[in-house]
Amino acid sequence: MRRPLVAGNWKMHGTRASVAELVAGLAGLELPESVEAAVIPSFLFTEYVVANLGKRFVVGAQDCAIQSAQGALTGEVASTQLSDVGCSLVLIGHSERRSIIGESDEILAQKFSAALDAGLVPVLCVGESLAQREAGKTLSVIDEQLGSMIAQVGIEAFARAVIAYEPVWAIGTGLTASPQQAQDVHAAIRSRLAGESAEIAQGIRILYGGSVKAANAAELFGMPDIDGGLVGGASLNADEFGAICRAAGS
Ligand code: PGA
Repeated sequence: MRRPLVAGNWKMHGTRASVAELVAGLAGLELPESVEAAVIPSFLFTEYVVANLGKRFVVGAQDCAIQSAQGALTGEVASTQLSDVGCSLVLIGHSERRSIIGESDEILAQKFSAALDAGLVPVLCVGESLAQREAGKTLSVIDEQLGSMIAQVGIEAFARAVIAYEPVWAIGTGLTASPQQAQDVHAAIRSRLAGESAEIAQGIRILYGGSVKAANAAELFGMPDIDGGLVGGASLNADEFGAICRAAGS
């Protein structure tokens, strides 16, 4: 049985005041034991979030450096620094980093390995753009993103990873993939992995992301290959995020 994971990606949001308010709201939530709940704040707030929520939530980071060790790499944060402050997972290859920052598959593979070296769980994000979906290329795009990572880090590295399928056209737009559209891609991801290792394919959690909210979460999480969600906008509201976590547990 795969334990559902619901992770809230706060992106570049938050001031000290708004984060304090959100943390207070999250601290008061009733959460199902059966669900692993994670919050992924800006680096700035990591220590504060670990100190205040670290007992009930897994705390993650939105990115890490290409090397695990500290060193001369201005502006970056090493995966070992993240584990030192209490992070246990890290997003790798969110579409905003792939497309706006321009992170290549090679860079992402280095980050994925750096995460594992520091004992962090890498959450590899994959997903197609609207143009790619309309051109019927969804599965080939996902296959390429996944295949490139497998070729670089090896399938065994996925034993400790999570995958998040996030159609780019559904992120922050209010458009959601239908449960069946998402399930089709999740099943394709699992079968791609099964071609390399049946055991890893069976055990890995594949999250859906893209305008997940309380109103659509239960239907999405009810699909057989959807093992939880990566939630952006809706994770900035404690009650909404709590309802999404409960949907994963039902
Ligand atoms: P959204 O973002 O829930 O606001 O669509 C999801 C994500 O980018 O992880």
